[in-house]
Amino acid sequence: MEKLKFAIIGCGRISYKHVEALYRNVEEADLVATCDIIIDKAIQRKTEYENLINRKTVNTYKDYKEMILRENIDVITIATESGYHAEIALYAMNAGKHVICEKPMALSIKDAQKMIDCSKKNNVKLSICHQNRFNKCIVDLRKAVESNRFGKLINGTARILWNRNMDYYIQAPWRGTWKLDGGTLMNQCIHNIDLLQWMMGGEVDTVYSQCDTFIRDIEGEDFGTILIRFKNGAIGIVEGSACVYPKNLEETLSIFGENGTVCIGGIAVNKIENWRFTDNLDSEVKILKMQDQDPDTVYGFGHQSLFKDVIDAILNNTEPLINGVEGKKALSIILAAYKSRLTGLPTKFPFDNFSTIDMENLKK
Ligand SMILES: NC(=O)c1ccc[n+]([C@@H]2O[C@H](COP(=O)([O-])OP(=O)(O)OC[C@H]3O[C@@H](n4cnc5c(N)ncnc54)[C@H](O)[C@@H]3O)[C@@H](O)[C@H]2O)c1
Repeated sequence: MEKLKFAIIGCGRISYKHVEALYRNVEEADLVATCDIIIDKAIQRKTEYENLINRKTVNTYKDYKEMILRENIDVITIATESGYHAEIALYAMNAGKHVICEKPMALSIKDAQKMIDCSKKNNVKLSICHQNRFNKCIVDLRKAVESNRFGKLINGTARILWNRNMDYYIQAPWRGTWKLDGGTLMNQCIHNIDLLQWMMGGEVDTVYSQCDTFIRDIEGEDFGTILIRFKNGAIGIVEGSACVYPKNLEETLSIFGENGTVCIGGIAVNKIENWRFTDNLDSEVKILKMQDQDPDTVYGFGHQSLFKDVIDAILNNTEPLINGVEGKKALSIILAAYKSRLTGLPTKFPFDNFSTIDMENLKK
């Protein structure tokens, strides 16, 4: 079987995870091109990959349109600043390429919907990097939800208590801006918000938020809370910070139902802190086996499985686990929270198009 040919657009901080994921799926995938407007970054990723596979296979580009024109590519992965995702993804899908896009898929409801429609129109796969959905204990938690072991779901909490100091924002000045990023809810907390909504039933009724910019010199919030009422009646609570002194404290997901309590923590929601069900089906040994080892960074191990999921979806013509529709869910909750911050009122779903750019209207 011929391998699927991949190209990466945007070769900054997270893109090494794409290189690693491709290497770990080397039986079915090959990297043929990297692209960054700063060519040295494209060369760096090319070199890393070629060193891993011991072969020269990768061409480098500064212009993604030229790359798409010249190269024979099946799948494009996008890891540019968030505000460019939609434009690049639409271009790639209209050129007939499958797309794996970093989170958030876009910064407006309208762009996210355009991406979903575009993937359908061109009959190509679209997947969004919410890689923590592939963590072992998260997969098991989702199975527990699906098999109704919690009984009636009552509440769930996503806590993301991290430290992102000013050096982090100065290093890449797009971070924390309304045009290209958003605040900590959009950039750091979106993964855990995705997991929370995935476990709690997905369909949202209302979102209310209080957030502010306390100590970082950025446009977006450096601390935020969200209160979510799901259509099934359950309530979700999000607490997200970029200000925790002096370093990252926790990323925890807790789910509570009438017959069960689960709390998952660890560096990247990978360790089970509590796993209790009235059915008592799981032994201590089994619970221990549900956990991943600690990853070296908060990015975790999930990119490898996510890339494999997309490869399988392409080869079998099925939908990836986190397709555009799924990717839009956490994005919508965060945009609803921003709208709530702007209006001072809860945002009722569905709501009209809203974008991080609308937050420029926020009075300081
Ligand atoms: N899944 C995760 O866990 C995770 C973690 C970190 C970041 N991210 C997301 O990944 C994206 C990138 O984040 P980062 O921290 O790597 O950013 P970064 O600033 O380090 O890298 C972005 C790169 O994109 C390049 N770029 C911009 N426009 C381009 C274009 N038109 N063509 C080619 N290259 C272009 C820039 O030159 C830069 O090198 C963001 O959307 C971020 O939210 C995801």
